[in-house]
Amino acid sequence: MSTATMEKSAAPAAPESFTVTVIIRRFDPEVDDEPRWQDFDVEMFATDRVLDALHKIKWEQDGSLSFRRSCAHGICGSDAMRINGRNRLACKTLIKDLDITKPVYVEAIKGLPLEKDLIVDMEPFFESYREVQPFLVAASAPKEGKERIQNVAQRERFDDTTKCILCAACTSSCPVFWTDGQYFGPAAIVNAHRFIFDSRDDNAAVRLDILNDKEGVWRCRTTFNCSEACPRGIQVTQAIAEVKQAIMRGKP
Ligand code: SF4
Ligand code: FES
Repeated sequence: MSTATMEKSAAPAAPESFTVTVIIRRFDPEVDDEPRWQDFDVEMFATDRVLDALHKIKWEQDGSLSFRRSCAHGICGSDAMRINGRNRLACKTLIKDLDITKPVYVEAIKGLPLEKDLIVDMEPFFESYREVQPFLVAASAPKEGKERIQNVAQRERFDDTTKCILCAACTSSCPVFWTDGQYFGPAAIVNAHRFIFDSRDDNAAVRLDILNDKEGVWRCRTTFNCSEACPRGIQVTQAIAEVKQAIMRGKP
């Protein structure tokens, strides 16, 4: 057998696994007065994600571990959590991108009521979202059988904020939101922006009035935590700044 053939038939080296220590902030309202940290050692591969580590722990070590997830591919927005002190989606955080010489700390997002382990009550978040009227409001019906036409520039104007998956990573990374439960928060403003700058919408003035409230855009302190936390790469702070400008100068 030639050397070339031998090389071709050699089995590829199996990927190496390693042990990662995951420390999770646990809370069971039926048992615990306060949250507590619990360590788990998990056998992982570099291509695994933090969500895979949580699945392994739940399926192989402790079935009571509670967290939300659905799509597992960065689309549904249900698994935002604090990983090593930073808000991220567990399904988009690769183990190889973390420093696994140290434990990986995982806890629930901040600023929303803790329900169990990594699960928070999202209702206050969605309440603010609903308040900004995140839907198209048109004063007139389109011509019969016709669509509401938009040119490329008009569509581009609000493209960035259409990408929101309502994961709450931005809002729950905002220090103003942590200390003031009434603040609308970045995600609600992003979703207001998406319709305020839509040329087909006729309700911008109402949304701008809602966000001109003392708990609206003026609470933003431009710390940029929100933009850094957003798994969709939305320029959240810029969207908030554009809404502030629209309040002062009117919708452009
Ligand atoms: S703006 Fe980004 S971080 Fe905030 S809710 Fe939407 S997707 Fe999540
Ligand atoms: S599980 Fe859907 S975004 Fe992570």
